[in-house]
Amino acid sequence: MTESENAPVVRLAGVRKEYGGTVALAGIDLAVAAGEAVAVMGPSGSGKSTLLNMIAGLDRPTAGTVAVLGEELGALSETALARYRRRRVGMVFQFFHLLDDLPVLDNVALPAQLVGVNRRAARERAAGLLDELGVAGRARAYPSVLSGGERQRVGVARALMNRPALLLADEPTGALDSASGEQVTDLLLDLNQIGQTLLLVTHDRALAERVATRVITVTDGRITADRTAVAP
Ligand SMILES: Nc1ncnc2c1ncn2[C@@H]1O[C@H](COP(=O)(O)OP(=O)(O)OP(=O)(O)O)[C@@H](O)[C@H]1O
Ligand SMILES: [Mg+2]
Repeated sequence: MTESENAPVVRLAGVRKEYGGTVALAGIDLAVAAGEAVAVMGPSGSGKSTLLNMIAGLDRPTAGTVAVLGEELGALSETALARYRRRRVGMVFQFFHLLDDLPVLDNVALPAQLVGVNRRAARERAAGLLDELGVAGRARAYPSVLSGGERQRVGVARALMNRPALLLADEPTGALDSASGEQVTDLLLDLNQIGQTLLLVTHDRALAERVATRVITVTDGRITADRTAVAP
C-alpha cells in the first residue's frame, strides 16, 4: 500500500477556531479512518457544526491543521478549496438546501455538472442514485412537493454525486418526523456498510446508536469522550 492509502481520511491537529471573542473550537485532534461512521454529539453551542465546517472546507481554522486524504486544506487557495469542497466531501444539511426551482433530478446532477461532467452523464448518474436511494419516482418533481424524508434522500443523493471520500452530515434527521428519520438512518447505515466513510453531527440518539461505529463527544470546543460503538 502507498502512504496515502494508509493515511486517515481526515486528520485534525490542534484545530482552534475563534469568532471574535468566542472560542468555538479549543484544540481538536482527531483522525478518522476509511470506513468509519463517526457520530459527533454534545451540547448546543459546543462546536460541533464548527468542527464539521472546518472539515468541509467551508471555513478555515484560526490555528491548527486539517488534512483530508493527506492533503492539507490550509495550503489550498480559495479556488482549490472550492474544488476540494465539490470533489472530496459531500454535505447533507438539516434543512436540505435543495434548489426549489430545479426538479429533483437536476438538483442531484448539479454537483457533477459543476465539476465539468456533461449534462447527460450527470443526469444518468443522478437517476441511478435516486433509484438506489428509493426516490426514482420523484426525479421530475420539484423539492417543494416532497416529504421531508424524500427531500433528505435527495439531499444524500446530491451529496454522493461526486463520489466523496467523506460524507458529512449536520443533523440529517433533525427536521424529520420519526418515520422519515428512521428511513434516513437506514440509508446512512446502508451507505456505511458498503464502505462510505461518514461523519455525522447529531442529537439523535437512535441515529448515533444505529449507524455510528464511533461516538465523539464535544464539550466547550474540545473532544471530551471518544468511544468505539458496540456492534449492533
Ligand atoms: N459564524 C459564526 N460567528 C460567530 N460565532 C459563531 C459562528 N459559528 C458558530 N459560532 C459560535 O461558536 C460556538 C459553537 O457553535 P456551533 O454552531 O459549532 O455549535 P453546535 O455544537 O453546532 O451547536 P448546535 O447543537 O446548537 O447546532 C457557539 O458559541 C456559536 O455561537
Ligand atoms: Mg450545530
